[in-house]
Amino acid sequence: MPAKKDFSLKPYNTFGVDVKCRYFIEISSIRKLYEAIRFLKNVKLPVLVLGGGSNVLITKDFNGVVLLNRLKGKEIAEDNDEYVLLKVNGGEDWPGLVDYCVNNNWGGVENLSLIPGTAGAAPFQNIGAYGMEVKDVVTTVEAIDLSSGERRLFSNADCAFGYRNSVFKSTERGKYFVTTVVLKLTKKPKVNLDYAPLKNAFEGRAEDDVTIQEVSEAVKKIRRSKLPDPEETGNAGSFFKNPVVDGAKMKELLSRYHDVPAYPFGENQFKLAAGWLIEKSGWKGKRMGDAGVSSKQALVLVNHGNATGKEILILANEIRKSVEHNFGVKLEFEVRVV
Ligand code: EPU
Repeated sequence: MPAKKDFSLKPYNTFGVDVKCRYFIEISSIRKLYEAIRFLKNVKLPVLVLGGGSNVLITKDFNGVVLLNRLKGKEIAEDNDEYVLLKVNGGEDWPGLVDYCVNNNWGGVENLSLIPGTAGAAPFQNIGAYGMEVKDVVTTVEAIDLSSGERRLFSNADCAFGYRNSVFKSTERGKYFVTTVVLKLTKKPKVNLDYAPLKNAFEGRAEDDVTIQEVSEAVKKIRRSKLPDPEETGNAGSFFKNPVVDGAKMKELLSRYHDVPAYPFGENQFKLAAGWLIEKSGWKGKRMGDAGVSSKQALVLVNHGNATGKEILILANEIRKSVEHNFGVKLEFEVRVV
């Protein structure tokens, strides 16, 4: 098995943190995956699966085996007048996949344009943006159990999708390697302009006249203006989840701050904008050494150059403390901290 030893993960995490792993194996075929599973049995070390490395903060050298999902390829599994079922291998680049769907006029993922990462990682945290989530189009996830080598099919319900969550991120964490994801894409797309800034972008236009190609372009424009580009400044998108509070807490917050952004989220629950809480706590644009808070979007932590994973984690914990102190609201990490 051609495992690389003491290998730097710097190019494989979008924070650009310079940490090493004990072994590194690139998985470009199912055969290689089975070889890697045999290798794992022999070395008896922990395993970490990486796709685009766009939602992970690695805080120290990893004394284990990193498996990089580079299973490429996609095929149409079913095609009719209404929809296509597109079977995508886990290592396919997500933004490229969205462009492919949009160019074919297959609807359902256009609002998820330009989200960094891979197709296999998309179900892990149920990626979402601008009023859409990947759970709305995933029909099946095929994964291999890394300890037994067994192949398992997860239906949409089996994935137990939630807000930036799934069975892969919660109860079955670290257990599976995603080989394929099947997406159901509509051939009669209807745009989703629920997210206010997106609606504003098409002001004066009838919704039926707006195409998914235009929506994809608008989403890209919003993302480029609001979010730092990981190619330029290391980051992993939203570092925290937007917290959910109950009606009583919401009332208390509104009595203190009339402009607190919040959205109804289930019965008597409200989702707050963590970016707002962090900005109001004075953190936007701040830095501690090379670890910083984006000046464009306070929910995003950035690496200005040579920050270590530990330094970014210390900053994240300081932000958490201060938001809890100011608002009595606990922030949860959205990124996976290793
Ligand atoms: N806000 C501030 N200050 C900031 C940032 C935001 O006051 O520095 C306020 C905005 O003014 C707005 C509200 O917070 O009223 C919401 O901001 P925004 O629309 O930018 O979205 P978000 O809630 O901060 C979430 C997702 C993003 C996704 C956008 C758009 C999470 C954790 N984040 O961010 O997802 O792109 O909505 O749908 O749910 C990601 O997961 O990595 C990610 C970038």
